[in-house]
Amino acid sequence: DKNSTVSITVVGASGDLAKKKIFPALFALFYEDCLPEHFTVFGYARSKMTDAELRNMVSKTLTCRIDKRENCGEKMEQFLKRCFYHSGQYDSEDNFTELDKKLKEHEAGRVSNRLFYLSIPPNIFIDAVKCASLSASSANGWTRVIVEKPFGRDSESSAALTNGLKQYLAEDQIFRIDHYLGKELVENLSVLRFSNLIFEPLWSRQYIRNVQFIFSEDFGTEGRGGYFDNYGIIRDIMQNHLLQILALFAMETPVSLDAEDIRNEKVKVLRSMRPLQLEDVVIGQYKSHTKGGVTYPAYTDDKTVPKDSLTPTFAAAALFIDNARWDGVPFLMKAGKALHTKGAEIRVQFRHVPGNLYNRNFGTDLDRATNELVIRVQPDEAIYLKINNKVPGLGMRLDRSNLNLHYAARYSKEIPDAYERLLLDAIEGERRLFIRSDELDAAWALFTPLLKELEEKKIIPEYYPHGSRGPVGAHYLAARYNVRWGDLSIEQ
Ligand code: BG6
Repeated sequence: DKNSTVSITVVGASGDLAKKKIFPALFALFYEDCLPEHFTVFGYARSKMTDAELRNMVSKTLTCRIDKRENCGEKMEQFLKRCFYHSGQYDSEDNFTELDKKLKEHEAGRVSNRLFYLSIPPNIFIDAVKCASLSASSANGWTRVIVEKPFGRDSESSAALTNGLKQYLAEDQIFRIDHYLGKELVENLSVLRFSNLIFEPLWSRQYIRNVQFIFSEDFGTEGRGGYFDNYGIIRDIMQNHLLQILALFAMETPVSLDAEDIRNEKVKVLRSMRPLQLEDVVIGQYKSHTKGGVTYPAYTDDKTVPKDSLTPTFAAAALFIDNARWDGVPFLMKAGKALHTKGAEIRVQFRHVPGNLYNRNFGTDLDRATNELVIRVQPDEAIYLKINNKVPGLGMRLDRSNLNLHYAARYSKEIPDAYERLLLDAIEGERRLFIRSDELDAAWALFTPLLKELEEKKIIPEYYPHGSRGPVGAHYLAARYNVRWGDLSIEQ
């Protein structure tokens, strides 16, 4: 619209997230011509900086798409010219009033729409929201605020945060990011399920033996220990990223693709789940390990982490959905830092073929013969289905093969970063991929009792060497439910 503008203010502009993700995503959107004709980007932070200094800082992290290098430098210049900086305190209405003045100058009398991205520590969320809302809201368009986890550390603190936000914002102004929802293969889950005939009829306890959600990083907390130690891997990855994927995986068919319809179904499935039980959880923490003359640090070697910290850097859990579709099916989650490999995937293990004529071809290990659907969220995105197939030849030998949709081979296009989609959706007012507050409450209700128990009982994590496969406890947990973890690194 020629008569409207969008002003995007990145609050906490000099932080890591802003530099690594937000500015680059905004530039990518600009490059793809996805931003409105009239837009302005403002960095806001406490440190003193000129516009030129901000541009210089931002320019260092902008990248071009591999397939679109032409004009990239020129486009960068154009983008940087639209970036400005305002220095101010996060709790100063006066400073936000100054920002408001500058925004107005750029808006030049057009309809003003304003997006604030809070890329700041959670203890100052409310202050910043208050100031932005009271002193820098749009007078004639929309005002939206993007917030990113941590959304509290349990049900109570999360509810307090929500209440705080709602003092200054309506629910439909709050865009809670879970960046995993912006990932291409997570977004594709619903397409896979609901636009193909062959999956949805199998999507239940009748055919599915178990489902696994696996997150693995091959590096430690590396300087983020100060944040991480107060949260741990369960809050950092499971309660949000993996649970969100689970909800999309397991929800019933929504009435439509409308944001409220989808989120209604996600809330329903979350509310059908049993809160996690301590005996269904294994926690671990990485210890130092020396390999090939290199010593990899322990979690507690991080200067910002207390020496006696019991915070888990690894966790595995079995979850259950008590509804007609999923009764008794174990949903296993595993998440860890400083493991041997990096990746995120969903694995669906199907049941044995009843009365399988070919059972004798598999020896005693019938589990090996079951079909498995793997959705590799990252890296090297892929969807593949493991099937049994006859090895060509005169004999009757079977092997396991993959029907394989390998993104790099199938699509030449580079996959956009999760933040690009999410920022674009926030600008367009599409709420489907953002977390509604009742969803957040339901997610916390599942994890809060467990998290309290772990802390109250001071449960000692199982220590695993940096760069290993993680604690063996995870293996035993799965075995209790007759499950074997799939292993990304073996299949690559
Ligand atoms: C963040 C976590 O939400 O997700 C980090 O706080 C983690 O600890 C990161 O490293 C992983 O995101 P991605 O997109 O790199 O898989």
